[in-house]
Amino acid sequence: MKRSRLIGYSLLLAGLFLNYPLPVSAVGNRGVLQGLHALKSQMPKGCGSCHQGMTMLVNGEESSCLTCHGNSADRERMVREGYLKQTGRNTLADIEAELRKTYVHPTLAVSGVHQSRETLPEEVSNAMRHAECVDCHNPHLVDKGMPLRGVMGKRIGNFSGAITKEYELCYKCHAESANLPGNSTNKHAEFKTTNPSFHPVEGEGKSSFVISLKEPYVVAKGDPGKISEISCSDCHGSDDPASPKGPHGSNNEGLLVLNYQKDDSLPESSLAYALCYKCHERSSILGDESFPYHSLHIVGRRTGQEGTSCYTCHDAHGSLQYQHLIRFNEEVVQKNKDDKLKYDARGFSARHGSCYLNCHGVEHNPKEY
Ligand code: HEC
Ligand code: HEC
Ligand code: HEC
Ligand code: HEC
Ligand code: HEC
Ligand code: HEC
Ligand code: HEC
Repeated sequence: MKRSRLIGYSLLLAGLFLNYPLPVSAVGNRGVLQGLHALKSQMPKGCGSCHQGMTMLVNGEESSCLTCHGNSADRERMVREGYLKQTGRNTLADIEAELRKTYVHPTLAVSGVHQSRETLPEEVSNAMRHAECVDCHNPHLVDKGMPLRGVMGKRIGNFSGAITKEYELCYKCHAESANLPGNSTNKHAEFKTTNPSFHPVEGEGKSSFVISLKEPYVVAKGDPGKISEISCSDCHGSDDPASPKGPHGSNNEGLLVLNYQKDDSLPESSLAYALCYKCHERSSILGDESFPYHSLHIVGRRTGQEGTSCYTCHDAHGSLQYQHLIRFNEEVVQKNKDDKLKYDARGFSARHGSCYLNCHGVEHNPKEY
């Protein structure tokens, strides 16, 4: 063992066991290093790979991660300095490139806000929003194929355990946070399995008739190869399937894996609603296999009178009011002359319903199918 490394270790041990005043706060379980970052074959300098210098100083900013998980020049420097050994199979992906795309988590943009002992969901309404690598990953515990291992979930009373589902991580900032931006909604409220309808993220969906679903997606668990529950990152993540997994950044608006056109009066195409057509057969939707007026609304009557987006009628997360993910986009859809704006489904999977509204000057009072 090299001498400098020995000194590093003794300092660290001193810090851990002799109450040497470490700048990092108390030494909890989180000081125990396991999993991928503990592999001396890849990270010979252990703690020192992230905790820099004699004082072991580290903050929760992305810089201590991007040295290895960022651009190749930085990574090669880490290899040269002996912090990282790259074996043939493992070439670390460039997360920084994802975070430089147009629609991103503000990891690079926001600095100095994350605190190692903070409580999330945020309880202070004017607290600045942030998302650092260590808000979503536990650098002491990440493991092969388990990038979220050891991430703590929402605190209930004095207790908070590690998350078991990805959405529990997202809810730390996109659900009951007191500092949600004005244009943002509580995702937990939208995905609740007690809602009239929801995409099956927290549990299986309510509908037994989703005729457009593509293999391997199904409405309820059957064969082992079939998928009846989906996750946030089935829709949110990189636009490039070859990029590292995770909702770091995307060139698609909404940080989506595929394009989704939300505006009214634009032509239909496989690209316009690519996100939905990933799991719902385009030919089934436009062939009116469920809602008999899908094609009329989505494609429009003729060129020059284009159709409208799924977003005009559906919420991609869930609906607190109606079945079939119906939630009208009130920038496009208005009340009818009797001051009504509502959807009535006739029971579950009945495939009949009525709409009370006004859209593009067309009264629905009601229109039935
Ligand atoms: C992959 C990078 C990485 C490695 C390797 C690593 N740490 Fe950390 N550690 C961090 C980061 C980043 C933080 C700050 C987390 C935060 O701010 O939320 C931290 C925080 C800590 C804390 C404070 C924890 C707390 O609860 O506030 C201690 C103590 C600690 N590390 C000890 C160690 C020891 C000991 C080792 C080696 C056995 C080690 N770390 C290895 C990245 C690392
Ligand atoms: C010294 C280089 C180095 C630093 C610094 C570093 N990592 Fe890593 N990280 C690695 C290596 C090596 C692996 C294992 C890759 C493999 O075997 O596939 C890894 C794996 C990971 C994984 C799991 C990837 C997977 O395949 O599931 C995550 C997540 C991760 N690191 C996050 C972080 C975060 C967050 C930080 C900063 C707090 C950080 N890393 C700092 C080298 C580093
Ligand atoms: C530590 C906090 C935090 C966590 C955890 C978190 N986010 Fe975010 N997220 C943010 C912040 C901050 C923004 C910037 C906009 C805002 O303030 O809401 C954001 C923005 C987004 C956006 C919108 C991007 C855009 O282009 O407008 C999406 C989508 C998103 N997050 C999805 C997720 C998903 C999915 C998860 C879980 C895997 C998650 N987030 C976990 C803090 C977080
Ligand atoms: C079926 C696909 C799908 C799933 C699953 C999904 N989303 Fe979304 N999400 C979208 C689409 C499409 C948009 C953009 C349109 C909109 O705002 O409704 C969006 C927008 C967002 C936004 C930005 C708008 C806002 O309200 O702040 C956030 C944040 C977000 N999603 C978080 C999540 C989280 C967290 C999960 C999992 C708990 C999730 N999403 C699951 C499709 C999805
Ligand atoms: C004018 C409003 C409207 C628009 C626009 C619309 N839908 Fe629908 N959609 C409905 C209604 C109403 C139902 C419920 C039909 C029923 O009673 O079963 C429905 C049902 C569905 C279903 C469930 C049944 C099935 O076909 O599997 C899916 C999936 C669906 N829509 C996807 C889409 C997609 C994707 C788009 C955009 C490309 C879209 N919808 C545009 C109104 C609309
Ligand atoms: C808002 C939450 C969030 C932030 C911030 C975030 N990540 Fe991730 N990351 C995820 C999620 C969720 C996944 C896992 C997605 C999956 O497995 O489908 C992931 C996956 C990864 C992976 C594994 C990629 C793969 O292809 O297997 C690495 C490595 C990683 N993140 C590193 C980082 C680093 C480094 C940072 C900061 C520069 C960071 N992440 C910031 C949520 C986040
Ligand atoms: C990752 C796969 C996936 C994507 C992407 C996806 N869906 Fe779905 N969708 C499903 C699954 C699975 C169900 C079945 C849920 C159930 O059993 O109720 C479903 C059901 C639905 C339903 C019927 C819900 C009900 O209760 O009747 C509608 C409407 C719908 N999706 C619309 C959309 C729209 C609009 C988009 C694009 C914004 C979209 N979906 C994208 C997987 C997906």
